[in-house]
Amino acid sequence: MHKHDLVYLTEDASHDAAIEHINEEAFGPGRHTRAAARIREQGPHDLSLSFICADDGETIASVRMTPVLAGAVKGHLLGPLAVRPSHKSRGIGRELVRIAIDAARRKGSEAVILIGDPPYYGPLGFEKVAYNALTFPGPVDPSRVLVVPLVGETHTRLKGTIGWRK
Ligand SMILES: CC(C)(COP(=O)(O)OP(=O)(O)OC[C@H]1O[C@@H](n2cnc3c(N)ncnc32)[C@H](O)[C@@H]1OP(=O)(O)O)[C@@H](O)C(=O)NCCC(=O)NCCS
Repeated sequence: MHKHDLVYLTEDASHDAAIEHINEEAFGPGRHTRAAARIREQGPHDLSLSFICADDGETIASVRMTPVLAGAVKGHLLGPLAVRPSHKSRGIGRELVRIAIDAARRKGSEAVILIGDPPYYGPLGFEKVAYNALTFPGPVDPSRVLVVPLVGETHTRLKGTIGWRK
């Protein structure tokens, strides 16, 4: 398998079954109860900002982006991000995050927000959101709430509840 077999594509409906499988494999059955999942249940993700990686035609990784209002910030919630175990540690996760952030910036998003591990996401441009500044529809570890600000003053406006927006 060579790196040049990998292609990154905008998600469409034909990827649904493979993405479901990838997320089931990565996160297991408890994934629907997580706080971020509750936001995703409030409305659809944005296909134009969601991407897959295919290896020789097979979908092996996915990142989704959901439009959110976070305090006063019109941003996007990144996740789930998952890479099939057979394809980990080749930079695919990093590349999907980079592509998603770029696309969000081009679309005029004010921020990319996620709940995740700071050691992984810090080098990708994520900063910690002020402790407990955002209220999620479920419990979260405040030290894992991260943001890539895409416009000025984002941190001061990230205060209040976070939920799906149209
Ligand atoms: C996390 C995940 C998306 C990373 O995808 P990937 O394509 O393997 O990542 P990359 O190749 O871009 O980066 C791999 C590096 O990140 C490191 N890494 C992976 N997960 C990490 C974490 N949670 N914290 C810190 N570092 C992490 C790996 O050790 C690896 O280091 P190396 O390059 O020195 O070997 C993938 O492992 C996965 O699907 N995990 C299960 C689902 C998950 O946890 N998703 C993230 C939710 S926050």
